[in-house]
Amino acid sequence: MGKLIAANWKEHPKTEAEAFALFKAVARTPRPSGVTVLVCSPFIYLEEIAREWKRMPPKERERLVLGAQDVFWEDQGAYTSEVGPAMLRSIGAKYVIIGHSERRKFAKETDAMINKKIALALRDGLKVILCVGEALSVREKGVDVAKKFVAQQLLKDLKDISIKAGDLYIAYEPIWAIGTGRSDKPEDAREMAMFIKSSLKKSKKISPKFLYGGSVNGKNAADYVQLREIDGALVGGASLKAEEFKKIINAM
Ligand code: PGA
Repeated sequence: MGKLIAANWKEHPKTEAEAFALFKAVARTPRPSGVTVLVCSPFIYLEEIAREWKRMPPKERERLVLGAQDVFWEDQGAYTSEVGPAMLRSIGAKYVIIGHSERRKFAKETDAMINKKIALALRDGLKVILCVGEALSVREKGVDVAKKFVAQQLLKDLKDISIKAGDLYIAYEPIWAIGTGRSDKPEDAREMAMFIKSSLKKSKKISPKFLYGGSVNGKNAADYVQLREIDGALVGGASLKAEEFKKIINAM
């Protein structure tokens, strides 16, 4: 499929009008061949954005896909405020981000919860972007310690889940690199990509796609994505500025 550039809007923008304007600007940006752009908006805007997406001529929505930033582990039931994968599928979302470090931190999401979410999302036909990554205190002990930490996350998050090729992306987002302007070195991200791919080849017999995330911008995006082992980027802050995000897409 080539490279995936995923926009994680987080809890932005503040109004529907702004969200819609941003989506239209992203949609209008030509995507180089082999590049797919994924927009993960807050749930509240997703339906309207999906409606707009469906109205676009097929040519214009080529390699432009939609996703959510989270999902619940039950398809329906008495679970106030939750949104299940079947609901997401029904409005046209194709991807879901699961286990972002901000969910782990602020919503106290555990690996066991993440594991249930991944199992149902995959079963219901969504492509899953599983976020992993270590804190600064771990990384300061060296890249090998960071690898061990990530390996533990993968083990727990993917426990007893069988995965079809192409359905799983691992987004490596070192926590210290998110929103800080301090991105990982491309060669270190590459090393992590090789490590994750080879571990999952052994344990799960799959080779997942690898995304790098953490302070990706128009200037550094190509340094990661040009590497063969890195299949794309998960972009937070820079995906909220249409011009900056355009630079990332153009850098592909
Ligand atoms: P950032 O966020 O690009 O603002 O560092 C990335 C993410 O959290 O997905």
